[in-house]
Amino acid sequence: MKNNPLPRLDEDSAVREQLLPYCRLKPGEVWQDPAGRHRVACADATNVEQVQKLVDDARPTLAIQDPPYNLIAFDLRHIEAFTNWCAEWVRLSAEIMSPDASFYIWLGADQNQHFQPLPQFMLMMQQLDLFQSRSFVTMRNQRGYGTQKNWMAVRQELLYYTRGNPFFEVQYTDIPKILRGYYKNINGKKTENLERGRSDNIRPGNVWVDIQQVFYRMEENVSGCYAQKPLKSVERILQASSQPDDFVLDLFAHSGTTLMACEQQGRRCLTADLDPIFCEIVIRRLEHFRETGKTGWQNGHPFEDVPDLNQQAVSEE
Ligand SMILES: C[S@@+](CC[C@H](N)C(=O)[O-])C[C@H]1O[C@@H](n2cnc3c(N)ncnc32)[C@H](O)[C@@H]1O
Repeated sequence: MKNNPLPRLDEDSAVREQLLPYCRLKPGEVWQDPAGRHRVACADATNVEQVQKLVDDARPTLAIQDPPYNLIAFDLRHIEAFTNWCAEWVRLSAEIMSPDASFYIWLGADQNQHFQPLPQFMLMMQQLDLFQSRSFVTMRNQRGYGTQKNWMAVRQELLYYTRGNPFFEVQYTDIPKILRGYYKNINGKKTENLERGRSDNIRPGNVWVDIQQVFYRMEENVSGCYAQKPLKSVERILQASSQPDDFVLDLFAHSGTTLMACEQQGRRCLTADLDPIFCEIVIRRLEHFRETGKTGWQNGHPFEDVPDLNQQAVSEE
């Protein structure tokens, strides 16, 4: 069994050198899906011309944005510079989206730095006033940090905004309802919640405890990607806030989770990443799925065809 992952692909310059010749996209270029469903751009989320080239005349009804979080693990900037940068891609997204739109942002909060950049981001959204706040979702991660002298940090923040009157459909988890009660009189009959509910299962609400974080034993794992979101989380957003064939925008593609979930759910994805290596991974992930039905490489990786690549990384057990 293959069991040796690629290193973080944004950091390992030797591996990057080897992979760049295999990347189909250069900055400013757009890949068109031969099946006519999706587009992938090697683009800067704040570059108007590049993002417009990606979107063309499509009007996304949903955006799922997952920027670098301005935490130590990523590229730490001054908080004001980070917030101004975020305002640029939020404005650009608002310009190209449909008048009735849902806007989701995955974000982090540094508990040792007054929870930056979360509060500053929220205030920036209030000041821009392009979208209305709707919900602050927390997804529970399984792995955490700060376990000895602090409450282990296991939360992942997800902000939900809308404008106009976008589609929304209530979602349910796989967790059955177990509590009876909450009696109510309906048309003269005393009913309890299990009779009244539209599903035998509970809703996720705004605290999602039922989604497994991606790790190397899961099929969807894409080795070399350090910030991959679980497909199930994006599937939930797509089902709640989009309909078949809708255009979905994601300006921070990375492992291509949004595109992969769109492919599975019959949505059309317009996605970009600044880094040509992540753009190539997104395209390869879609092609791999169409060829094999697999959503990732589990503990293999997307560049197994590259000769002499980091030999230890691809050694077989
Ligand atoms: C947190 S990751 C996104 C993870 C993604 N949701 C997934 O599930 O795989 C952020 C990505 O944004 C990309 N990025 C950073 N700055 C960017 C920019 N200015 N424009 C576009 N992409 C950028 C990084 O290369 C990285 O791949």
